[in-house]
Amino acid sequence: MEFFVSTSAPSRQRTDCAIVGAYDKGVLSETAQALDKRTGGRISRLVKRGDIRGKSGEALLLTDIQGAACERILVVGLGARANFKRKQYRKALASALGALGRTGARDAVSFLGLEQIPDADQYTLARATVEVVANAHYRIPDHKTANKRPKPTLTRFGIAAASRGDRTQVERGIGHGGGIVAGMSLMRDLANHPANVCTPTYLSNAAKALARDHRSVRVRVLNEVECRRLKMGSFLSVTAGTEEPARLIVFEYYGAARSEAPTVLVGKGVTFDTGGISLKPPANMDEMKFDMSGAACVFGTIKAVAELELPINVIGVVPACENMPGGRATKPGDIVKSMSGQTIEVLNTDAEGRLILCDAITYARRFNPDVIIDIATLTGACVVALGSHYAGLFSNDDELSAALRTAGERADDRAWPLPIGEEYADGLKSNFADFANVAGREGGAITAACFLAKFTEGLRWAHLDIAGVAYVGGAQKGSTGRPVPLLVDYLLNKQ
Ligand code: BES
Ligand code: MN
Ligand code: ZN
Repeated sequence: MEFFVSTSAPSRQRTDCAIVGAYDKGVLSETAQALDKRTGGRISRLVKRGDIRGKSGEALLLTDIQGAACERILVVGLGARANFKRKQYRKALASALGALGRTGARDAVSFLGLEQIPDADQYTLARATVEVVANAHYRIPDHKTANKRPKPTLTRFGIAAASRGDRTQVERGIGHGGGIVAGMSLMRDLANHPANVCTPTYLSNAAKALARDHRSVRVRVLNEVECRRLKMGSFLSVTAGTEEPARLIVFEYYGAARSEAPTVLVGKGVTFDTGGISLKPPANMDEMKFDMSGAACVFGTIKAVAELELPINVIGVVPACENMPGGRATKPGDIVKSMSGQTIEVLNTDAEGRLILCDAITYARRFNPDVIIDIATLTGACVVALGSHYAGLFSNDDELSAALRTAGERADDRAWPLPIGEEYADGLKSNFADFANVAGREGGAITAACFLAKFTEGLRWAHLDIAGVAYVGGAQKGSTGRPVPLLVDYLLNKQ
């Protein structure tokens, strides 16, 4: 999709489709009024007839336009004017795209961004527009042999700017939005693949492909022998039950002087989580192919950073493996030694994410990070706590936590802070090792974060539990691309 800025009046804009809005009770927006006037009252007649009421989600297509330069007019419902904010804007645009997809329009221009939107400027709206349009056009790399969805005909999308002065803001939003959606699409593609395609080896090859595409990105892939030499006993204990070789993938992106401390992103890359010997129940186990979403998010964020050529340094560390039962699998009660030297009693082999992340975090110390952020589909408990709207946000640094929370707000990709503390960490006590990998059932997302915190002494660290936000189940099953927007926004504002 190609995006462009339009500064033409709605009636003068040559396009296959002009998109304008109508508020609640059929109150036409200014741009809809302008088109209505030019077309001899075609829109207001439809309002009078009750064909469009201005309810949020509505979309009505007008064809055979005379009096204006466009071929079609799409009127979308915006809901109550007083309520029209960024969220409603995204919703209106999404329904416009749904309706547009049922036409043969090859290009369209949206005038919805010219509405008064209290919580968004022209930059933010343009960025959101690119996200909504590109994500609506995202196609799962499926394996269907029949009934393939036809390719959308829309290839160019215009965003109206209020004035020539706004043009640079809209252009900046389009640019940043483009980087974000490139990252989201990569994340979604990787995570949507089935686990028999997306193995640790596949991820390694995808990492190398990313480095080939972007000269600013370097990648190193460590095999199990090298991980053994690094004494990553915790990471390796998770991969013990599978035939599929594990990998540690390391990205390096230097957009600033080497002397500048990097942001390190660590992503959980469990390409399939059966639970291991602590086997999961069968229902929805297929969704555990998404257990590498943290890893995919690191790939996507690195991709976005490289596309946007951000003047910062970013390192990505991805421990990738399968969690399978097997003759050599780790058993409940086994004790392993992490790269940090601390010993862990593995009471539940299904709490494997923290076991691979702790060694990846220890490995990341060699980069002398400014901050380290891990991203992981870590706990079902986080989904119970926050549902699928907010990621869980944990940190040992209030400033970092606030920055990530703000970034999530700005990017419409939210995270909510949860505590980490001694009271919770006490649950990890073990009679046999330094600590166990699980505590009781209560506060599971928090005790998981407490486990990771034991490896972050002296680091500015944050942990995003994305179990609820990284993918959706049900009829729309698939990866969401979250939290790439949050992380890219954070990095954009770090410059
Ligand atoms: N990958 C799961 C977490 C998960 C669960 C993600 C549901 C998405 C949806 C993780 O490895 C896991 O199994 N966690 C356990 C931890 C427990 C054994 C302490 C969980 O959440 O049940
Ligand atoms: Mn698990
Ligand atoms: Zn898992």
